[in-house]
Amino acid sequence: MTERIAVYPGSFDPITNGHLDIIERARGLCDRLVLAVLVNDEKRPLFSVEQRIALIRENVLPSDGARVEVREFSGLLVDFARSVGARMIVRGLRAMSDFEYEFQMALMNRRLAPRVETVFLMAKEEYSYVSSRLVKEVARLGGDVSALTPPGAARALRKAYAAPRRGRVRKRPALRRTGRTPRGSTAES
Ligand code: PNS
Repeated sequence: MTERIAVYPGSFDPITNGHLDIIERARGLCDRLVLAVLVNDEKRPLFSVEQRIALIRENVLPSDGARVEVREFSGLLVDFARSVGARMIVRGLRAMSDFEYEFQMALMNRRLAPRVETVFLMAKEEYSYVSSRLVKEVARLGGDVSALTPPGAARALRKAYAAPRRGRVRKRPALRRTGRTPRGSTAES
């Protein structure tokens, strides 16, 4: 019998308990699940693709390394799916607000690769509001996200936001020739 391979793609910046829930559900639907981590430097992810993969490996693979694997990908998702022999793309749905974007993406992917089916899985109710974006925002503002992410990801978030991000330091505007000082500063400081 042919192996049923599914791809679960995402940015995973970082992995959350919502992702873990979808992984758990998706495993039951296929023989091999490939977590595909997007190399999306344009989106300026908080974690590099290597860090995101390490966080997934640390939390997903030890107990079930044989059936779940993690890879990075760039380019079209359907090309990646075909390259690993997958006929199924798994996406998690949390709320109606996810639907429009997911619907468009699924139809576009179907147009590009009619033999690859997108399957939507409903996230557990308790994770229906959890997203990597919100988790990052809460962590950045000093909130506790330990119930929303695996422990390694919560630690990585604390560390990332404890140190100022490189390239994010705002330069003080240069003094104009008029001699006026920029708002909130003095000519001497
Ligand atoms: O976790 P995310 O950021 O919602 O995941 C988005 C992802 C990776 C599924 C999506 O951006 C994607 O598939 N990118 C690959 C580019 C692609 O195939 N685009 C055409 C399909 S609409």
